[in-house]
Amino acid sequence: MPGTELFDQMELDAVSDVIRRKMVHRYSSHAARKGVYRVSEFEAALAARVGAANALAVCNGTSALFVGLKAMGVGPGDEVITPAFTFIATVEAIAACGAIPVLADIDETLGMCPASVESKISKRTKAIMPVHMFGAATRLEPILELGAKYGIPVVEDSCEVTGGTYRGKALGTFGLWGAYSFDPNKYVTTGEGGALVTNDAELYKKMEYYHDHGHVHRLDIERGAEDKCGLGLNFRMSELEGALGLVALKKMDAAQAMLRRTKRLVLEGVAGTGLTPRPVPDRDGDIATHIVFLLPSAQAAKKLQAVTAECGMPVSIIGENTWHYAKHWKALNELSGTVIGGNTAPSYAPETMAASDAILSRAVFYCPNLRTGDETIEKMIAALKAGAKAAL
Ligand SMILES: Cc1ncc(COP(=O)(O)O)c(C=O)c1O
Repeated sequence: MPGTELFDQMELDAVSDVIRRKMVHRYSSHAARKGVYRVSEFEAALAARVGAANALAVCNGTSALFVGLKAMGVGPGDEVITPAFTFIATVEAIAACGAIPVLADIDETLGMCPASVESKISKRTKAIMPVHMFGAATRLEPILELGAKYGIPVVEDSCEVTGGTYRGKALGTFGLWGAYSFDPNKYVTTGEGGALVTNDAELYKKMEYYHDHGHVHRLDIERGAEDKCGLGLNFRMSELEGALGLVALKKMDAAQAMLRRTKRLVLEGVAGTGLTPRPVPDRDGDIATHIVFLLPSAQAAKKLQAVTAECGMPVSIIGENTWHYAKHWKALNELSGTVIGGNTAPSYAPETMAASDAILSRAVFYCPNLRTGDETIEKMIAALKAGAKAAL
C-alpha cells in the first residue's frame, strides 16, 4: 500500500518549488526563504489533523521512537515493554538508548495482551509501548489503566497507523507521545520521514532540541549564534520531505477510502465461509492496510496458504513474517543476557514467545495496494473461498 501509487503532478510541483527556491533545509537562511518553511507547515498540518498540541517531524519513524524515548529520559538499564509482534525498529530504538526491550505477548486482536504486559512490569519499567500493527489499534483502555496503576508512561508506536483512530481519537495521541513513519511502504509517505506528536510542551521542547544537536530554534537568532540546550544528534527532516508530507496529508483520506473499500469488499465477499477476520477493537478506526484472518490452527493456515497459492493469490502467514515478528530476529541474541546499567537483558529465544506464536502461526493476511482493482478483489475472494473450503 505505498503512498507513491498516488504520486502525480502535486508532488512534482511541491518538490520542484523547494528546489527552485534552493531551500532544501528546514532551519536557518531566514531572510532568503521569505517566510516559507515547509517542514513547519507539515508539522502544523499533522498536529491539527491528529489533534495534538505539538508535532515534530524527523527523518524516519525509527528516529521518532528513539528521540521520544531519549526525551523522556529512558537510559541504561531501564526497561521498556513492547510486543513481540512489531517491526525491529521498535526494539532497536529501545536498545539504542541503552535500555532493555521487554517483549510482551499479543492477544487475538494482534495488539499487546494486557495480562502479559502486567506480568512483565518491574521496578525498572520506564515505559509501556503498544504498537498498533497492520492498520488497527491495540485495545488501549487496559494498557492505559496499567500505566496509571503503576505510574508508568504509555507511549505509542503508531508508525503503521498514521490517520488511524480509536474510539474517534487519533492513534498516537493517547499516551505521553506517539510516533509515525512515512517510509516508502506507508500509505502516507514522504520517501523517508517520521514524526512525534505530544501534548506535553516541556517534553516537546526536549524532543525538538535533541533532534537537532541541542539547537535553540528561534527565528530572531541566526543558527549557530544561539546557546545550546544540551547534547543531541541530527534527525532533521528536509524541506523536500516536508513538501511531500503536505501533499500526502491532503491525499490521506482518499487513500484510506481506497484501502477501506478493498477490505470491505473482501470481507463481504467471504462472509459465510467460516473465515474469522482479526477481531480489531475498533473497526471504524481501522485504516485497512491489511486484511487478516485467524484460522483455527497453524495447519489450517498452511492449508489456506497452499490453496490460495494454487489460485494465484497466496496469503502470507504472520508467524512466518521475518519483518514483523521478534521470534525471527537472531540479531536479538546480541542483547540476550547482557548487563546494562546494572540490569540483565532477558532471553529473546523463540520459546519465550510461545503465546504469541500460538496466534501468529494461524494468522494469515493480504496487504493490498491502494489501487487494487475489482478484478484483483474478485481473485482474492475466490482464492479465500477455495481456501476456506479446504482448510476449515
Ligand atoms: C511498527 C513500526 N515501528 C517503527 C517503524 C520504523 O519506521 P521507519 O521505517 O520510518 O524508520 C516501522 C516501519 O515500518 C514500523 O512498522
